[in-house]
Formats: sequence, structure tokens, C-alpha cells
Amino acid sequence: MENFVYYNPTQLIFGRGQLAHLEDKAKQLGSTVLLVYGGGSIKRSGLYDKVVSLLQAAGNRVLELPGVEPNPRLGTVQKGIDLCRAEGVDWILAVGGGSVIDAAKAVAVGVPYEGNVWDFYTRKAVAEKALPLGTVLTLAATGSEMNRGSVVTNWDTQEKHGAGTTFPTFSILDPENTFSVPRDQTIYGISDILSHVFEQYFTHTSEIPLQTRFAEAIMKTVIENAERVLDNPQDYDARANILYSGTMALNGTLPVGVTTDWATHSIEHAVSAVYDIPHGGGLAIIFPKWMRYVYKENVARFVRFAVEVWNVDPAGKTDEEVALEGIAAVEAFFARIGAPTRLADYQITDEHLELMAQKATPFGPIGQFKTLTSADVHEILRMSL
Ligand code: NZQ
Ligand code: ZN
Repeated sequence: MENFVYYNPTQLIFGRGQLAHLEDKAKQLGSTVLLVYGGGSIKRSGLYDKVVSLLQAAGNRVLELPGVEPNPRLGTVQKGIDLCRAEGVDWILAVGGGSVIDAAKAVAVGVPYEGNVWDFYTRKAVAEKALPLGTVLTLAATGSEMNRGSVVTNWDTQEKHGAGTTFPTFSILDPENTFSVPRDQTIYGISDILSHVFEQYFTHTSEIPLQTRFAEAIMKTVIENAERVLDNPQDYDARANILYSGTMALNGTLPVGVTTDWATHSIEHAVSAVYDIPHGGGLAIIFPKWMRYVYKENVARFVRFAVEVWNVDPAGKTDEEVALEGIAAVEAFFARIGAPTRLADYQITDEHLELMAQKATPFGPIGQFKTLTSADVHEILRMSL
């Protein structure tokens, strides 16, 4: 195990009816709030009305940044920054999925920063100050509700990058708020959560039994509940278990003491930057191909994955056969739940493979399990067509 420092200040408020805490939180955080949300799902579900009345009951003046896009855009973030500065906003509340939370984080760190907020995403600057941020999560996927990551797309330059920004002060997670998530977004969320675990599970760091078992517990929980939630979107316990898994997959628990990979996320971000496809859809396509491309770097890890997570019976098989059976099980799982399996599912051809390979490696080679150059990425994308 490697040395680590573990820090996570986000207060997680989880379960049925927990939105009631919002009033007290609002009283503590200030008198003018920027409410950030997406394309209208929270209005259709009735959550918007509940949130606004709690904020008003707390005496807050409520300003709004609506219309945050899936794969949030820099222009929308800039609008939020301008509004906060003009109106003297004290704190920000994001109500929605990962895109809404990520945009809100960008606004939170952009307001006190004198330069262009994009500097944080291009590694020209590190965010040091932020407005306080709360979230009400409506979609299980990114883990943004309990981490400091934020992913923003600059559509002018066709770049999509992640940055370390700010932790939410609190996040309210009521599984009932995820009942209305459509089938395709539920599938993308499941794919994203599993992918976060994959990024941190495939490592060369040895003697990490606790991190390994945490990761396996999350993967098994997601796999067990995936079909249940797709069969019955209003199954409270299935939604709750997926929601909590999503948070635990990317709140800093898994990577402690471990060298993690993250190449596949960089590749997917490059694809999304050029084609604007859903993040989880891209990951379901690319991750199994990445696995096939890299498994020989540490076959033993893939054997363990196959046996522990996918119940592959190793009897009478070579390690390589077991490892490949595990990868085939991942592919079969994604196909069974209805995730996309090829870039062609999004009408993506070989036209921009080189462009995407370059965009995936803007700061040099990526990944730790196997270091990938743009030529390697090109090959993984070709396998994904
Ligand atoms: O915009 P609205 O109308 O709210 O609709 C959204 C959106 O169309 C809808 N939705 C959300 N909750 C709903 C709902 N519809 C009905 N009922 C509900 N309860 O779902 C659609 C997708 O929402 P989005 O927020 O884009 O999805 P997700 O949470 O998957 O976020 C994806 C973004 O997060 C980034 C991705 O790259 C992508 O930009 N990521 C952020 C990370 C982080 N901050 O740590 C890590 C991830 O790896 C990821 O890269
Ligand atoms: Zn992700």
C-alpha cells in the first residue's frame, strides 16, 4: 500500500424525506442563493417547487441558472459567474444530475477567481477559493455530490476536461428523487458507476485487500441491483443501493493508497468532446475494449476480477482464459442491460479517430495500469467502432 491523506468534508444527507434539511442549511449559508438546474426534469417531478419553497422559508432570495446541458458547457458556467458577481450571491444550490453539479462547482470556483475559469480545466491554475455549494442529487452516476471533481466542455475548442474544484458542503440524496430517471439515463449511470470502480480497481499496487474488497462490494451491489431497478424504476431499495454505490465509487474511498488509472475516462471525454454523446454510454463501449487491450499487464488482477465479481469458475482453465471470460462477462452485462456496445451505435465512424486520440492525450500519455500514447488510444477507439 502507498502513503495517503484522506479528506472529505461533504455532509451526506441520505434517504426518504431528507430534503427537509434544506431549510436549515439555507439559513446557515446566507441570504442570496443561486439555484442551478438542468433542462426541466426537476420542474416536471415537482422537486423545483419544493426546493424553492424551502429556500424562501429560510429567508433566501432565489436567483436561477436554468438550462445546464448534459455535458455542461463553459458558456453556461460563465453566465452563472456573471450573475453571482452582479447580484452578490452568497451560496449555490445545484439540483440535478452530475452535469448540473459540475456546472455549479465551476461557478462556485469561478466567482472569486480573477482569471478565466477555464484555466482550472486546462491546468493553468488551481482553484483555491469557492462560494459554498450544496446539492440535491437526482441521478445516480458521477459521484460529483461527494467529490471535488467537475467536468466541463468548451464547445468552441471541442475540449472536455475535468478539474479539481470544490467539495459540496452538503448533499441531499433521496432515492425517490431518482424514480423518474429515464431508462437510458439509468443505464448510463450504472455504466458510469462501474467504470469509476474499474478505474481504481485495475492497479499494480499490491497488498491492498481492503481497497480491493471495497471495490468488489460496490461492483457486486451495482450488478445485483441493475436489473432490479430497470424492471421496476420505483423500487426504493434498488434505487437506494445504486445511489449509495454511486457516491461511494467516487468519493475518495477507493483510491487511498492505490495508484489508479483513469485512461478510459480521458478517452471517453475526448469522444464526448467531439460527438457530445452521454458519458456513461461512451464508457460502456470503450471500457471492455480497454480491458482487452491492457489485461496482459497484470493477468492476476483480471483473474481475481473474473472470479470475485463475475463468478467465473477457474477450474481447469488457464489464467488467460479466466481473465478473458471475466471481460466477456462485462460485455455480456452491458449488452443485457441495454447499454450501447459500439461507437457505431452513436453513428460514429472512423472519420475522427485521430482527432479523438489526440484530444484524449493533451498533456501526454495517459493511464497507469498501462501507459497509453495517442497511438494506443487510436487502437482502442478502432476496436470500439
Ligand atoms: O437536465 P435535466 O432536465 O435535469 O435532465 C437530465 C439530463 O437530461 C436527466 N435527469 C437527471 N435527473 C433526472 C433526470 N430526468 C428525469 N428524472 C430525474 N430525476 O438526465 C439527463 C442527464 O443528466 P446529467 O446530469 O448529464 O447526467 P450525469 O449525472 O450522468 O452527469 C454526466 C456528466 O458528469 C460528468 C460527465 O462527463 C458528464 O459531463 N462526470 C463528472 C464527474 C465528477 N464530477 O466527478 C465524474 C464522471 O466520471 C463524469 O465524467
Ligand atoms: Zn465517469
